[in-house]
Order: sequence, then structure tokens, then C-alpha cells
Amino acid sequence: MTMTDNNIAIEVKNLKKYFPVEEGFFASLFKRSKNRFVHAVDDVSFSIRIGETFGLVGESGCGKSTTGYLILQIQKLTGGSIFVKGVDAVTLSRTELKEVRKNLQIIFQNPYESMSPRFSVLDIVAEPLRLLNIIEDEDKIEQKVLEELTDVGLIPAEDFLDRFPHELSGGQRQRVSIARAFALDPTFIVADEPVSMLDVSIRVGVLKTMKELSKKRGTAFLFITHDLALARTMCDRIAVMYLGRVVEQGPTEEIIHNPLHPYTKALIAAVPSPDPDATRTEELPIIGEVPSGIDIASGCRFHPRCIYARDECKEIDPLLEHVKEDHEVACLRYKEINKIK
Ligand SMILES: Nc1ncnc2c1ncn2[C@@H]1O[C@H](COP(=O)(O)OP(=O)(O)OP(=O)(O)O)[C@@H](O)[C@H]1O
Ligand code: SF4
Ligand SMILES: [Mg+2]
Repeated sequence: MTMTDNNIAIEVKNLKKYFPVEEGFFASLFKRSKNRFVHAVDDVSFSIRIGETFGLVGESGCGKSTTGYLILQIQKLTGGSIFVKGVDAVTLSRTELKEVRKNLQIIFQNPYESMSPRFSVLDIVAEPLRLLNIIEDEDKIEQKVLEELTDVGLIPAEDFLDRFPHELSGGQRQRVSIARAFALDPTFIVADEPVSMLDVSIRVGVLKTMKELSKKRGTAFLFITHDLALARTMCDRIAVMYLGRVVEQGPTEEIIHNPLHPYTKALIAAVPSPDPDATRTEELPIIGEVPSGIDIASGCRFHPRCIYARDECKEIDPLLEHVKEDHEVACLRYKEINKIK
């Protein structure tokens, strides 16, 4: 990647998270339960620039949320490194980690679950400022909250301060979550399916607010979604995940117009066309359902579902290979499949 170090907000290298599998009674009786793991995240590396929105896309269970939680240190790593503005965030002491955590925030899928029903909007947005003693003077805290509410489009902000979550619409609640995430002026925000609980009609407005704020504040965003069309509207670059691995990553329009990995091609083929008269010329080029992350196939983990698989794909595990500019792909046969010399 052609990035200078001071452009990078977040960098992860060889991130791994294996969850031990809890076996049933009979498996444990016959001692078959040893060393079985879900390979939720399995050697994932990427960087996110300051002010950049980086999308993680893939089917349910491919490890998107776990990747986000690992970076936020909500979950403990099995392996790998995380750098926040060049600082190694894995080997920090508790006090140092507290300092770094200010820079790492999250916007959850369900704003209603992520905020206390007994807290007013003022208290919800002020909570991180108070907990971390960022601002001590209560008048200044209120001033900061008013600024944040205005920035997320809750106007006039004064009218929202004393409201409670049940007095807000879904879109307004998610705007409060966004205000809270931005209140500490963090380096990095994970937005995990942030609009999937909202009515389609209000999604665009909420997304636009998030995008404008991330650009204005220079925040690095990890935008998690199973919806490639949504990723396209939001993200500067995207990474496509399959069973705990990134199989392709690059600038969004490059990936959409020139997908090289068979799995990315399948995801793009599955996006409904906005043109009602458009006819799909091909069947979805993918076989079967997503397998579990427990018994990972040998070689390329996509091979049981890949229509281009050959014998070599059962043996060799492809690494991400640099194709051009920021575009990388992990497929042994991408040149043949895409007729690249
Ligand atoms: N706490 C946990 N304990 C055991 N397994 C887990 C845990 N959290 C996630 N997993 C497993 O890890 C894998 C990745 O899960 P993850 O939630 O990261 O996927 P995801 O891509 O976010 O999926 P979705 O789109 O459904 O939210 C899945 O197989 C999941 O069942
Ligand atoms: S390496 Fe083989 S199985 Fe894997 S995506 Fe490429 S062609 Fe398909
Ligand atoms: Mg998830």
C-alpha cells in the first residue's frame, strides 16, 4: 500500500480470533471435544487511513463483527497486532489502554439496546465525557453535547437534551448514538450494521450524516455490512471476508467494476439491479451454503463452493496478492479466471 505512516489511523496485522467450541454431552463423553475452534477471524490484515471509511463485507458469520470487536479490544485476540496511530495497542498496560480506548468507539446496530432507557439524551452523549473525565465543568459538557447533537442533525439541539430514548424515533436514536460515538473526537469508529434496524426511508439521511462527520472530523471508520450496495454508497475501500479471511480488498469502485475473486463476483451478482427491466444473464455463480467456521476446508477455504475450483485449490491456501494500486486478491486462479496476462 502506498500510504505514509502518519496517514494511517488503524492498522491490523494477522489478526486472529478462535473461539473454543462447546461440545454436547456425548462428544465430551467420548472425548471428541478436544481442540475444536471456530476460526472467526483468521489472519486478517488491513489499514484504515485518517478520514477513510473502510467497509467489511460478507455473509453472516464470516467474522465482520469479531474483527471490529478485536480492534476495539472488547474481545481478546488469539493472535496478531493492532496499531492505533502507530501505537501498538495490544501490549499496553491497563492505564495506557484506557487512554487509547478514548480513540476507539462503536455505533451498534440497535441503538435502543445500546442506551439506558433511564438516561436522558444529555446523559447518554455526556456519559463517555464524564466517565473519562474529559471535561469536568458541567456547563462545558452541556455545550459539547449541544454541538454534537447539532452536528448529527438533531436541531434545535436544546429540544433533545431532556428527552429519553422512548421519546425518540429510530432514526433520532441512532443519531444520538452517532453523537455519543463522536463526542470524544475518536481516531476510529466501528459502525456495525448501523442502519439495518431502521426504516429504509430514513437510512440515507443517517448514513449521509455519518459520512459527512467522518470526513469533517478525519475519523477512520470501519463500516460493517452484509449489504454490498450499502458499502458502495459509504466506503472508500472495501474488504470482502469469507470464513474469517479477507479474500479481496481495494478501492470500492475498483472492486465493484473489476472483481477478481469468484466469491466477490458472486456477491456482486446477488445485488439486485435498480433497473426493473434488467435481466440477469447468469445463475448466481456459487455452490451451496456457507459452511461453519469449525472444520475449515484444506487449501482455499472457498473451494467447496467455487465453480472454478481445481485440484490445486484443495491443496494450496492462497495468500492475498497485490494486483494493482491497492487492489489485492487471494485466489490461485484469478489470472486465468479474469483473463489477466
Ligand atoms: N462469543 C462467541 N463465541 C463463540 N463463537 C462466536 C462468538 N462470537 C462469534 N462467534 C462465531 O464466530 C464467527 C464469526 O462471527 P461474527 O459475529 O464475527 O460474524 P459476522 O460476520 O459479524 O456475522 P453477522 O453478519 O451475522 O453479524 C461465527 O461462526 C460465530 O458463530
Ligand atoms: S483458489 Fe481456487 S477455489 Fe479458491 S477462489 Fe480461486 S479458483 Fe476458487
Ligand atoms: Mg455481525
